[in-house]
Amino acid sequence: MARRALRKIDPALDLSRHLKTWQELPQPWSPAHLFGRDAPLEVEVGSGKGLFLQSAAIGAPHRNFLGIEIAHKYARYAAARLAKHSLTNAVVIDVDAERVFAELLPDASLAAVHVYFPDPWWKKRHHKRRVMNDRFVCDVARTLAPGASLHFWSDVRDYFDATIELISAHTSLEGPLKVDERPAEHDLDYRTHFERRKRLGGEPVYRAEFRKR
Ligand SMILES: C[S@@+](CC[C@H](N)C(=O)[O-])C[C@H]1O[C@@H](n2cnc3c(N)ncnc32)[C@H](O)[C@@H]1O
Repeated sequence: MARRALRKIDPALDLSRHLKTWQELPQPWSPAHLFGRDAPLEVEVGSGKGLFLQSAAIGAPHRNFLGIEIAHKYARYAAARLAKHSLTNAVVIDVDAERVFAELLPDASLAAVHVYFPDPWWKKRHHKRRVMNDRFVCDVARTLAPGASLHFWSDVRDYFDATIELISAHTSLEGPLKVDERPAEHDLDYRTHFERRKRLGGEPVYRAEFRKR
């Protein structure tokens, strides 16, 4: 299925509340400052067009959601989605997630981490660019609170398998726990746009959850 161009963002939308840069982040880290309230914080790495952030923020209003998206045009697009729905519990930051985890997020501070369909970097010599690398999975394990989960889904079998091995070798997270596919009840009833695209195209999706003990 071909990738459609991004729809135009309504120029009248004010993105200042929902789109932040590295410089605008509270340092030292203070999610209460960013969201205007204290609540369990879930982080999504590589938010793309922001479908997960929108549905998760609507579905769990008592939680805060932080999307991290390195590509400016996607970060803006996802932020526009949140702004359009006036969601006060979700923010997108236009930053490299590896930096946010390595330099900003404290130990045991997150209620969940979501990584859906990260770029596979197909060529072997480019695998080192994959976001699910040994340093990053250690940072994810470090930042999850006890009982919190990492959700990792991919359509690329070798990336999925390699990540499962990496997590088992470098962290003491419990898993992979099995995650079942759920039938979609409407056109946007998918975890992310990529999941929608892959499932409508009849391609397999591999899903795993890991829990901090
Ligand atoms: C294949 S897309 C998947 C988007 C979305 N998760 C979905 O499932 O529809 C991967 C996304 O991750 C973003 N990304 C890649 N590396 C990143 C990084 N280091 N930090 C934050 N975002 C990143 C890309 O810009 C892209 O939007």
